[in-house]
Amino acid sequence: MIDLERILVLNGPNLNLLGERDPGQYGTRSLDEINAEMFAMASRLGVELEFLQSNHEGDLIDKIHAERKTCRGIVINPGALTHYSYALHDALEAVGLPCVEVHLSDIESREEWRRVSVIAPVAWKRIAGKGPDGYLEALESLVNHLRT
Ligand code: DQA
Repeated sequence: MIDLERILVLNGPNLNLLGERDPGQYGTRSLDEINAEMFAMASRLGVELEFLQSNHEGDLIDKIHAERKTCRGIVINPGALTHYSYALHDALEAVGLPCVEVHLSDIESREEWRRVSVIAPVAWKRIAGKGPDGYLEALESLVNHLRT
C-alpha cells in the first residue's frame, strides 16, 4: 500500500483562458479539462493534487509557502512570470521542493524575451512544447522522482 503523496499544481497569469487564448500556440483544451486529466492520472499513481491558478504573483507565492510542508513537489506553469519573477524564483528556492516547470509552447523557439526563464535555476526539470500532455508528463516524472 503506497502512502498518498500530495503534489501542488500551479498555473500563473492568463492560463485561466486556456482553450480560447491563442489556440494555435496553447491548444484548445481548457484548464479545467487539463486538470481533470491530471486528476485521473494522479488517481492511477496514488497521489493527491492541490490546484491553484492565479493571475497574481503574490497568490502563487502565498500558496507555495502555505503548502511547503503538506506537498512533496510542485508542477508549475508560471506563464509570463517565468521570464521575470525573481520573487517566484525565490519562493521556490526557499521551500526547496522538487519542481517541474511546464510550458505548453516551446518557449525556446518564440520571441527572444520568452527564451529566458528565471525559474529554470530552481526547477528540477522543464517540459516545454508538448501542449497539455506536458502537464501529465511532468506529474508522472515528478512522482517517479519522488519514489526513487
Ligand atoms: C507559457 C509561455 C509563456 O511565455 C507565456 O507567457 C504563457 C504561457 C506556456 O505555457 O507556453 O502565459 O508559459
